[in-house]
Amino acid sequence: MLLTREEMTFDFGGGRLRADRDRKVLAWMMNQFLYGEVSGIQCGHWLYQAPDLEAARFFARQAVEEFQHVDNFVRILQLLGEEPAPAHPLVRFLSTGMMPGSFEEHVCLEMAVGEGLVLMALYGVIDTVDHPEIRAVLERAVKQEERHVDFGEERTVRALRERPGLRRRLLGLSLVSLWAVRRLTSFMRKRLPVDHEVLSKLPDFLQFTVECAEKRLLRMGVLDQPLAQMSALSKATAVAEAYLSTAASLPLRLLPRKRLTDTYLRDPAMRHGEEQPIRLVR
Ligand SMILES: [Fe+2]
Ligand SMILES: [Fe+2]
Repeated sequence: MLLTREEMTFDFGGGRLRADRDRKVLAWMMNQFLYGEVSGIQCGHWLYQAPDLEAARFFARQAVEEFQHVDNFVRILQLLGEEPAPAHPLVRFLSTGMMPGSFEEHVCLEMAVGEGLVLMALYGVIDTVDHPEIRAVLERAVKQEERHVDFGEERTVRALRERPGLRRRLLGLSLVSLWAVRRLTSFMRKRLPVDHEVLSKLPDFLQFTVECAEKRLLRMGVLDQPLAQMSALSKATAVAEAYLSTAASLPLRLLPRKRLTDTYLRDPAMRHGEEQPIRLVR
């Protein structure tokens, strides 16, 4: 990956999330991850649009891993004695609200930036949760998540090398993702208990994830200067350009369809926490 584990580690100052005291908060967090993992399964969509066998092979394997992650979060909810529940609208927007129109947008926005943010949130829970079994489940999942981010970064860099003209569009769409994370930060700042050893630090943690995402965008070459040096006008222009080109391709994307992310809470497999392992045939 273009950022090390150390660079992506936030200092919670020794604060702990305790499975007994913080059960409801942990369950809320796990339900956000659960939604993200269900949207992760939809990488199967990109199997159909993969530009080469390497990418197709990666997506096939990734889909299996994301299914395992769904099981992981259902398992953790069971350990906490909590039910699967809907995710926050901003998390839904970040995960599925901006369906990319191309493979290049998918690898940059959903894999490098999006899964990069998820990875940091997983590191954050691993570093603070006091439940060994929950930590062990998450530690297995992050190894796979790191590979997904790495693939996203590598293919974004490759795409920009081959088609430098893509940069503006990827930049505009990335700025929208970072805006949504900042909104989530201000949502949390108003609602979290100021006296909790971990929760009180979550807004600063989210701000830190945005800074890491910016570093990642700089290292991939999507950003050619730090955000602080970009004028508000050039940021707004990049976003407007990205959306105008999206609007041009809208007629193709308007076909109404129910997806797993609309129906997963009604799925019988959610109720019983049944594990349905998928094995790769070699
Ligand atoms: Fe995942
Ligand atoms: Fe992933």
